[in-house]
Amino acid sequence: MTGRRDDVASTLITGIGELVTNDAARGDGTPLGILHDAAIVLEQGAVAWVGASSEAPAADERVDAGGRCVIPGFVDSHTHIVFAGERSAEFAARMAGEPYTGGGIATTVAATRAASTARLRAGAERLVAEAVESGTTTIEIKSGYGLTTVDEARLLLVARELTEDTTFLGAHTVPPEYANDRAGYVALVTGDMLEACAPFARWVDVFCDRGAFDEDEARAVLRAGIAAGLRPRLHGNQLEHGPGVRLAVELDAASADHCNHLTGADLSALADSDTVATLLPASDFSTRAPYADARRLIDAGVTVALATDCNPGTSFTTSMPLCIALAVREMRMTPAEALVAATAGGARALRRDDVGVIAEGRRADLVLLDAPSHVHLAYRPGAALVAGTWKRGQRVFWRSTRT
Ligand code: NIG
Ligand code: FE
Repeated sequence: MTGRRDDVASTLITGIGELVTNDAARGDGTPLGILHDAAIVLEQGAVAWVGASSEAPAADERVDAGGRCVIPGFVDSHTHIVFAGERSAEFAARMAGEPYTGGGIATTVAATRAASTARLRAGAERLVAEAVESGTTTIEIKSGYGLTTVDEARLLLVARELTEDTTFLGAHTVPPEYANDRAGYVALVTGDMLEACAPFARWVDVFCDRGAFDEDEARAVLRAGIAAGLRPRLHGNQLEHGPGVRLAVELDAASADHCNHLTGADLSALADSDTVATLLPASDFSTRAPYADARRLIDAGVTVALATDCNPGTSFTTSMPLCIALAVREMRMTPAEALVAATAGGARALRRDDVGVIAEGRRADLVLLDAPSHVHLAYRPGAALVAGTWKRGQRVFWRSTRT
């Protein structure tokens, strides 16, 4: 059973066996801030009360968690979900040994340009609904499959209907019609295209890597975006060692995403900055790339986020639980670190303090797991563990439980 119910004024969730608050000041003294036998009251979109189940106040509606686990809603800080078409043949070829080069982006660009806005909207809405079913309550959405002024603006208009965290990624790749005029394309992205897109975007992003944009081009793109009032973030160090991460730090980008190939200098630069390293394990899975080394980043003092990178080329999943399971198994994160990275870490990567934590006054975005502990997110990979999702205090997903 799924779907939004009529809005209720206040909801008490009681009987929570394990409540992960991400508020280190309360609970068990770990970053997860775990409370046992807890309850929460949600009111007017915010968390109004957190405490012991036995002391819970009354509310209009009462939900019994039955001893199960409640966590903050996932913050998926990196997606490309506005597109048309699919690339399963490219995936199959990769699994048969072909490398990922980024060249397939052009395939999705062609399909996206040919699609109506209604079709793009329907596809994106479907993926957002899927994300909510796996516990995502905040999502960032990039453009990047239009690569003309009109098409990039079209993608951002659709994205804007679905989230506040929209990102202008005109510099995803150089489109075929500019293959012999890279400078002309960078001029477009930093000029007319930016001007048309900036009103619909909060962030500016660039793919700074082999086969995409070099350091000078990427710096020009991000600086132009900043001058237009956008805040920077960057795709980099996915395919090889390169300047991306250090450029992200230089420009105080909120996040450097991928981070598969990092030198010691990259690590130190990140550790001394406010730039989050956003790791995308499902992308590494689907490109059969070496996983980013989260352990090395965390041990160096870098703040890490996990995100899906949902896109038709390198990571066609909306599942944050899958990302957590992969990060624990393949990136050497503990289950607790992975959960923090998928919630509070994502919030840091979007420079938000209203989400990623369960505390009075914060947004009432949370997930009821059909499990006694958050560890099950990695311990039971592939299981549909999300029993219910609340966003801004309203239940937006509910799965009839087996109990
Ligand atoms: O984040 N790396 C660049 N962009 C996307 C992939 C886009 C595609 O292949 O369609 C990513 O993995
Ligand atoms: Fe991406």
